Amino acid sequence: MRFNPIAIFALAFSLAAAPGPAFAQAEPETQIVQSWLGSSHADTTSPSFTHWNDEGEIPGTCALCHSGQGFRDFYGLDGSTVGTIDHPVETGGVIDCDTCHAEGIREISTVTFRSGAEIPISGNTATCSTCHQGRASGVSVANAVGERDEDTIYPELSFINPHYAVAAATQLGAEAQGAYQYPGKDYAGRFGHVPPASECIDCHEPHSLMVETETCIGCHETADPETIRTSETDFDGNGDPAEGIAVEIAALHTRLMEAMVAYSREISGQGIVYNGNRFPYFFADTDADGEPDTADDGDVVRFAGWTPRLLKAAYNYKFIAGDPGAYAHNPHYALQVLHDSIESLSGPLGWDVSGLTRP
Ligand code: HEC
Ligand code: HEC
Ligand code: HEC
Ligand code: HEC
Ligand code: HEC
Repeated sequence: MRFNPIAIFALAFSLAAAPGPAFAQAEPETQIVQSWLGSSHADTTSPSFTHWNDEGEIPGTCALCHSGQGFRDFYGLDGSTVGTIDHPVETGGVIDCDTCHAEGIREISTVTFRSGAEIPISGNTATCSTCHQGRASGVSVANAVGERDEDTIYPELSFINPHYAVAAATQLGAEAQGAYQYPGKDYAGRFGHVPPASECIDCHEPHSLMVETETCIGCHETADPETIRTSETDFDGNGDPAEGIAVEIAALHTRLMEAMVAYSREISGQGIVYNGNRFPYFFADTDADGEPDTADDGDVVRFAGWTPRLLKAAYNYKFIAGDPGAYAHNPHYALQVLHDSIESLSGPLGWDVSGLTRP
């Protein structure tokens, strides 16, 4: 399938200029363009596409995922060398039609993950998984801390950001090693779910990106994904083994933050507070008021009490925060990662976590 980008953009902009009820009887392709225009892939105002405007071009390491042009260059779909981005990439691009429909896209057969794993994935799922895998892995974290003592503060350590919207890394679990995996533990691999709802576009409409929740009803008797539950164990120990698996994951995620706050006060000697919308995400909180400390120049103070143990847990905290659909992409991997992070911090804290169950 091939599209003329100029014609599509002309159509896209005429639609954007005149949205309205006329679309009720629109042609299917008009509806596709309309769906795409309403999606975040087409959001020209998003930081994902405007971040480089001042520089005027996007570095290759970022353009792979932040511009359709960069993506095509990386995979050689524009006739360039495969596996590198060899031209500067202009700003102003989005995830355009030809990101997913360029000729040759179906020949992609392997996606390389940040852990180094080369996983056979093809077709549509390969496009989504290339961009939705994050920029770091559990291996990056293990390499950064090396053999250092778990509970000593090392000023040279700083937070490692898994990046955003890491759905494919979650879905592949231990195969991609997106999260930091604690030694000696087994982790779930790819969440196969069920054949009709296994690939990205089985659940996400590829243009609007919305989850088609009516397809869940046939098997789960609900169209609210956050209430879906098939696992029988009460993982978070709250006595309710029927709440949605999303709720269990959210409870452990909250518990992990509580453990990080307690650990940072007792062991790191500097309180920690998280703000997922503000770089570098973790700030000092000396007076324990839940707000970042402010320096004399008025700027917030970044957290600087990193021990290897806390760095691993914080990476995992943000990894799960980076995938709002982790409960559907790989619920048991998410639960294992959160459980092990809490368990690790509970050791030096002397917390009893025997009420938690690992899947
Ligand atoms: C593997 C793919 C990938 C690479 C490589 C990548 N990003 Fe991203 N980035 C994403 C995705 C996906 C999002 C969208 C997150 C969302 O909106 O949910 C994102 C979001 C962002 C955002 C917006 C965050 C926000 O607050 O909305 C910024 C800024 C950003 N990336 C910067 C960068 C920079 C700088 C680089 C290069 C050093 C880079 N990215 C490389 C995939 C990538
Ligand atoms: C993020 C990836 C992605 C983007 C961006 C995208 N598409 Fe698609 N599109 C798909 C996938 C996946 C399918 C369904 C499987 C297939 O046939 O490849 C599809 C199917 C289609 C179809 C066939 C319709 C059908 O029901 O089978 C048309 C036509 C189409 N897209 C047009 C467009 C146009 C026009 C744009 C830009 C406005 C666009 N697509 C942007 C991924 C994408
Ligand atoms: C070339 C890289 C790229 C490809 C390919 C890609 N995406 Fe994205 N995706 C992004 C970026 C970047 C964003 C964030 C856009 C923004 O901030 O406006 C995003 C946003 C999303 C979002 C919304 C996230 C949010 O925070 O609102 C979903 C869902 C999504 N993509 C799913 C998919 C699916 C499913 C596919 C495959 C059919 C796919 N993406 C293919 C880069 C990509
Ligand atoms: C079993 C169905 C299912 C499959 C398969 C699936 N997702 Fe999701 N996805 C969901 C649900 C449910 C959510 C959470 C609800 C939401 O955010 O709309 C979600 C959320 C997301 C988000 C975050 C959206 C946001 O609003 O921030 C992204 C990005 C995403 N998925 C991408 C993917 C990619 C890429 C794949 C394939 C590697 C995939 N999904 C496979 C069901 C699925
Ligand atoms: C064809 C039947 C079928 C459809 C359709 C289906 N599911 Fe599932 N789902 C299952 C089965 C079977 C399991 C158990 C899989 C396992 O544990 O390996 C499951 C498990 C889950 C789980 C994990 C629950 C837990 O407690 O571990 C979530 C979340 C989920 N599905 C979400 C969805 C969403 C969201 C949709 C719709 C977009 C959907 N499913 C559509 C059959 C289905």
